[in-house]
This record gives sequence, structure tokens and C-alpha cells, in this order.
Amino acid sequence: MKITWFGHAAFLLEGSKKILIDPFLSGNPMSPVKPDEVDADLILVTHGHGDHLGDAVEISKRCKAPIVCIYELSVLLGRKGAETIGMNIGGTAKIEDVEVTMVKAVHSADVVENEIISAGDPVGFVVKMDGVSVYHAGDTDVFMDMQLIGGLYKPKVALLPIGDFYTMGIKGALKAVELIKPEIVIPMHYNTFPPIKQNPEEFKEKAEKMGVKVVILKPGESLEV
Ligand code: NI
Ligand code: MN
Repeated sequence: MKITWFGHAAFLLEGSKKILIDPFLSGNPMSPVKPDEVDADLILVTHGHGDHLGDAVEISKRCKAPIVCIYELSVLLGRKGAETIGMNIGGTAKIEDVEVTMVKAVHSADVVENEIISAGDPVGFVVKMDGVSVYHAGDTDVFMDMQLIGGLYKPKVALLPIGDFYTMGIKGALKAVELIKPEIVIPMHYNTFPPIKQNPEEFKEKAEKMGVKVVILKPGESLEV
């Protein structure tokens, strides 16, 4: 599987399918690609905040790729014309040979337009494709149930926010590594905006003392796992 980071929480997982997660591209100062430059078979959205929902509806329509998200958000996105797969926490959607499991996250999740629209809970995802499991934590603080996610789904790779302010920072992310026990961690959700300025090298140095490999990607870079 090839994992490409587009900055912030936006990733493309490429294997037997192309799975785009949290495609915040046009408004993302770190993204090296525009929404019309990415292809996807499936789009996963962790919650309705603009920096995660991003360009999902537009890409979904162009690529005829369904958006997998929590049920309430799927209703809202369906009204915008996207094809959706609305599921809920603890469930696994089997899309041909890919398994997408929705897991808990600790954050807020309303869609903010002219008014604030309730849009279900925030989530993370574990994607199993070509025999490899990847955990995208979404926006979250560390929580003890990450131990369950690690134990149940044994993700080889964890994509974890480290930016602080809107999510856990380095201290929380180090505890998350201890709970999840992945082989590889890719830090995300940092340095996009001033409030989430963070030094990923500090996270790498501390996490690698715990025996996990940390891969710091630049936006547009990929890791083959
Ligand atoms: Ni958020
Ligand atoms: Mn966010």
C-alpha cells in the first residue's frame, strides 16, 4: 500500500483501491494538489469540520466515489448531491476487498455554515486493504479506548494528529502510541495554521525511544508499506 500525505489530515491510500481521507485540498495552504488532480474510488470523512470535509463532495461527484462517514453527516452530504455510505462507530463497511471500520474520536463534529448544523459524532477509521491495516485517528485527543483499537485491529500504521490546540499535542500523541502499539506512525494535523505549529522532529525523537518508527512526510510525499 502506498500512503501519500497532502498536508493536514488529508491522505491517499493506494492499493487495490484508491482511498482518499479528509480531502481538505483547495483551502489547505500545505496541499500540493488541487481537488481536480486527485482520483479516488472511495472517500472517507472523519467529521464535518471544513478542514476535513474539504473538497469531498466535489471529488465524490467527479470520481463517482461514495463518501463514507457517520450517518448524520451522510444525510447532509447526500442533500448536496454526493453518493454516501452512512455508517456508525464500531461498524465495518466491506467495499469489495477493502474493509473500513469506523472508530471513536474525542472532538466536536458539527458542520458550520451560516448556522451550526448538528452532524453526528467525530470518528476515526481503520482501513484494511491488501492485508495492511492503517488507522487514521481523525481529530482527537488521546483516549484510553485507543488500546481497544490497537488490540482489535492491530494497525501497522497509525496516522496521528500532533498539532495541539484543536487536537492532542505531542504529549498526548506519545501516550496514543503507547496505547495503539503500531509499527509506524505518520504525524499529521500540524503546521497548517499558526495555532497548530509543532515540531514533528521532537515527536519523532521521543516516540522512537518507545520503539515505534516515525515517518515524517512532506506534503506530497509517500510511504510504501
Ligand atoms: Ni475538527
Ligand atoms: Mn481539524
